[in-house]
Amino acid sequence: MRPTIEQLPASRIREVANAGLGRPDVLPFWFGESDEPTPEPIRQAAAESLARGETFYAHNLGLPELRAAIGAYMAGLHGGIDEGRIAVTSSGVSALMLAMQLLAGPGDEVVAVVPVWPNLTAQPAILGAKVTRVALHARGGAWQLDLDEICRRVTPTTRVLLLNAPNNPTGWTLTRAEQQVLLAHCRRTGTWIVADEVYERLYFGGRCAPSFLDIATPEDRVVVAHSFSKSFLMTGWRLGWMVLPATPGVRDAVGKLLEFNTSCAPVFVQRAGLAALGLADTLVPRITAHLQACRDRLVAALQTLPRVQVAPAPGGMYAFFRVDDEDDSLALAKRLFTEHGLGLAPGAAFGPEGEGWLRWCFASQDLGRLDAGVQRLADALG
Ligand SMILES: Cc1ncc(COP(=O)(O)O)c(C=O)c1O
Repeated sequence: MRPTIEQLPASRIREVANAGLGRPDVLPFWFGESDEPTPEPIRQAAAESLARGETFYAHNLGLPELRAAIGAYMAGLHGGIDEGRIAVTSSGVSALMLAMQLLAGPGDEVVAVVPVWPNLTAQPAILGAKVTRVALHARGGAWQLDLDEICRRVTPTTRVLLLNAPNNPTGWTLTRAEQQVLLAHCRRTGTWIVADEVYERLYFGGRCAPSFLDIATPEDRVVVAHSFSKSFLMTGWRLGWMVLPATPGVRDAVGKLLEFNTSCAPVFVQRAGLAALGLADTLVPRITAHLQACRDRLVAALQTLPRVQVAPAPGGMYAFFRVDDEDDSLALAKRLFTEHGLGLAPGAAFGPEGEGWLRWCFASQDLGRLDAGVQRLADALG
């Protein structure tokens, strides 16, 4: 086995959660998904596809009608996105891996803004790239980027700047002004931007979080990764997409990589994606409005607890909070789970920058579950 793979850290969320799966007394808030199943019309579209016998390979880049629908959906949000820039992938995580395979090889430098969902930094490491971590800074429970610092760290030898905003786990979201500075800087250094924007619609300040697609030209070195998982309640379907630069050769290269990775996304899953996009105008605002209610309820309740530092995040589905004098997040998460039946993700799962913090996924259909969870936390903290 390659030493790089042996040395990859195992998921710390799993370290806590695997022991609790199937335990009915546990209130689980550790994984990044809603407890609401995929809406019926989306499931129906997949069932009808299977009933029609759509069980064959498809185009590497995705069904043309799905690419067209994604192109129209993205153009509606960001203007001027041609469907020729879209590649359909078997999940957001696969879109991100394909972006890394396209751009970063052994010895290349990837600068990542952290803390972040650990898959993002593991992917370049798997490919032999060198990952430089640049930390967000927490002030009063809210997280901020030091723009001067990131511009100092991204140099002409940096191959990729990797950003996830709205961010998992912190909820931190890039502002338009920050995106402009970063794009201008990366144009100067010749650095690619890989933007993980899977939470762009789970944003509480408007229809959509600021996106690099709003400001980049089609020729800029910007790749954006997307997913059906979060905004369409489709985590188990494994469907996502990439928005690529229009530069000749890029999409064909991704088509080759897709062939060697998954060959194509399953057709019945793509049909479900098409149905989901048809519902986007009503479904996504409904999901986001509910998430905002969840966030407000949870954060307000957490703020009443002594020793807890938390601020409402502008986007995403997580409350990331600190408990004073509790510096070992893995030990605290294990204690909350074993002694109090409360399932949270330890901040250390997102890198050393998240140590001392806990992540709570608030995507709960029943707001009462959040109240019950806060009561368990209150009992645990005395
Ligand atoms: C930041 C971030 N990016 C990408 C993904 C990928 O989602 P999926 O692979 O389910 O499409 C996730 C899932 O949790 C995530 O948190």
